[in-house]
Amino acid sequence: MIVFLMILSFLSVVYINESIVFFCFIVGFPILYIINLYMKFIYHQSARQWSPKEKVVIITGASSGIGESLAYQFSRHGCILVLCARREALLAEVSKNCKLQGAKDVITVKVDVTKESEITTLIQQIEKEYNRIDCLILNAGISMGERLDEINDFNLIRKLMEVNYFGSTNFVYQALPLLKRSPKSRIVVVSSAAGLVGAPLRTGYSGSKFALRGFFTALACELSDNDIYVTIAYPGPVRTQINKARLGKDPHELDTSGGITPEKCAQIIYEATLNGDMEVMFETLGRAVRIMEGPFLYLNYWLVNKVQRSLNKNKRK
Ligand SMILES: NC(=O)c1ccc[n+]([C@@H]2O[C@H](COP(=O)([O-])OP(=O)(O)OC[C@H]3O[C@@H](n4cnc5c(N)ncnc54)[C@H](OP(=O)(O)O)[C@@H]3O)[C@@H](O)[C@H]2O)c1
Repeated sequence: MIVFLMILSFLSVVYINESIVFFCFIVGFPILYIINLYMKFIYHQSARQWSPKEKVVIITGASSGIGESLAYQFSRHGCILVLCARREALLAEVSKNCKLQGAKDVITVKVDVTKESEITTLIQQIEKEYNRIDCLILNAGISMGERLDEINDFNLIRKLMEVNYFGSTNFVYQALPLLKRSPKSRIVVVSSAAGLVGAPLRTGYSGSKFALRGFFTALACELSDNDIYVTIAYPGPVRTQINKARLGKDPHELDTSGGITPEKCAQIIYEATLNGDMEVMFETLGRAVRIMEGPFLYLNYWLVNKVQRSLNKNKRK
């Protein structure tokens, strides 16, 4: 049946025959939906045989925002936390709060994710102390706030790739041997809704987050034999400081007042980590956009552009 539906879908794409597309949609969608639900159930059954208690959890970008809230969320379940970022004073503060909230142990390490040697030193330190990593949360990131034709230095785009893309991919590359030493270990990547749909004023940001999707979905396939679960989170607006430090000479303001709190975001990511979910969408609009992406490309483009422009307001900081 699946093969039959796939052949029909293939024919519909090749011949762009609307009636075949319609037939496939009506007949095929419910069947494939049920098969997918069953596969998801089996996947979750296996992933849920994992408890966060006393697990070694690394969080990048833990000095503020979503990373800080994730640190508290995992603390409450008795994890051993390794928190990294560049601002040491803030990390020390977060560490203190984590201990109060129940973390079994907390280590803070100053790491700039664009510096390979700093990641290497951290991984060596973890190997010496714990000889494994149970959960790696790649959250460190920066954003931007200008149109491409307003940017006066292309290095801004390179910088976004350095932090958001190479910072996370290099980190997981170096952590992989330790992740393989722990059964059912987790890799969690904090992408963005802008990593699923192009966001105006954030070409470089969207590009770096789209790239993460390609890298980590491929990695998830490679790691399926190792029983390692990869989760990609695509939050919409979250009320953090990220937009205060958007790259650019004179960045536009982004209205995140309608967004969720970092605590709520962290709670959703935490639950998805336990489930081993392949991806996490945060709000109805995000989910709708994700579903519409394929069959309703032009409608989707119009909708995303309209919503994003209202958020950007075209105002300067
Ligand atoms: N807020 C939103 O609306 C939103 C929506 C979707 C996705 N996200 C994503 O969520 C993640 C966290 O952002 P946030 O909103 O929580 O913003 P945030 O409060 O500004 O946090 C960003 C974190 O990244 C760290 N960081 C930045 N550059 C780094 C570097 N070179 N090396 C190491 N750490 C670095 C920062 O720490 P230091 O400065 O101390 O190094 C900070 O802890 C980002 O990946 C962002 O793209 C945010």
